[in-house]
Amino acid sequence: MPMIDLALHRLPTPLKLVLTAFLAMLGAGYLFAIANIYASHSGADGKPGLTIDDLKAVYSGVTVEKSSAKSAPSIMLKMIEGAMRQYVSDSADFLVLHDWLADGNGEPGLEKERDGRTPRRVITLNCLRCHAADSGELIGTKAPFGPDQLTVDYKMISQFTTPGTATEAGTVRIGPQSAPHLILITHAHMLAIPIFTLIVAFLFWLTPLPRGFRAIVAPIPMLTLVFDFSSWWLARVAPGAIYVIAAAGAAYGSAFGLQLLSIAYATWRRPPANQSPTTT
Ligand code: HEC
Repeated sequence: MPMIDLALHRLPTPLKLVLTAFLAMLGAGYLFAIANIYASHSGADGKPGLTIDDLKAVYSGVTVEKSSAKSAPSIMLKMIEGAMRQYVSDSADFLVLHDWLADGNGEPGLEKERDGRTPRRVITLNCLRCHAADSGELIGTKAPFGPDQLTVDYKMISQFTTPGTATEAGTVRIGPQSAPHLILITHAHMLAIPIFTLIVAFLFWLTPLPRGFRAIVAPIPMLTLVFDFSSWWLARVAPGAIYVIAAAGAAYGSAFGLQLLSIAYATWRRPPANQSPTTT
């Protein structure tokens, strides 16, 4: 009966190539995931660089000085860089709205003219057809920017344009991200990451590393995922869970990286001299 020998170094070369490309993509994909975390979270607390405060701003909420909150991205800024980007087809319009939001989005700035455009006009022309309270669109009732198609009401939009909500004098509360957004992120991550984590853990078990070592390292990534995902939600009520998120991320990264490298090594290592080669 033709069988695939489970010693990785005895896999047929085509499968070794498949496996190596798989590992390389997972490794690179993981690095891109880190880059993405950095790009999307590092400014969350209004200060550059990725710190524990950024995680707090995203997952549990954090209170910061008003001055630093100014540069934290508002919901509207994130939306026009993401899902709503398609509705601002004119790039000059986009810049006017973008810069107003990035500069702290005060009410007077709504009228500031640049290239014959004001942020108010950009919102009126590009957004009100869906975001006016009377637009007839569902989003117009959930996130109205004005009462009708011609009026932008600063009081209505300020909850989307101002990062965080003002608390006591001088401070602002940022985050946590909305529950619907976290639901989206959670399901996307929870249904995808465990699958390749499982495959890699199995492959790691097939390496010739000492059994005791494999027994410790093999379960780490999958177990840390459980702590990581549950802490995303737990942090909303128990801010200490932020530290679990950070620790789980670090543990996942190092154990997963170690597993990838071990599998690659085990696949391409020279066969030990005392074993007779088998054909497959
Ligand atoms: C074609 C209709 C449409 C247009 C035009 C449109 N939006 Fe939206 N917008 C939506 C829908 C639908 C949602 C909710 C779904 C989602 O979050 O993707 C939404 C969500 C948002 C939210 C998040 C609201 C919340 O409660 O969190 C913001 C902020 C936003 N849009 C800003 C804008 C801005 C700024 C413009 C103009 C540049 C714009 N939108 C143009 C349909 C539209």
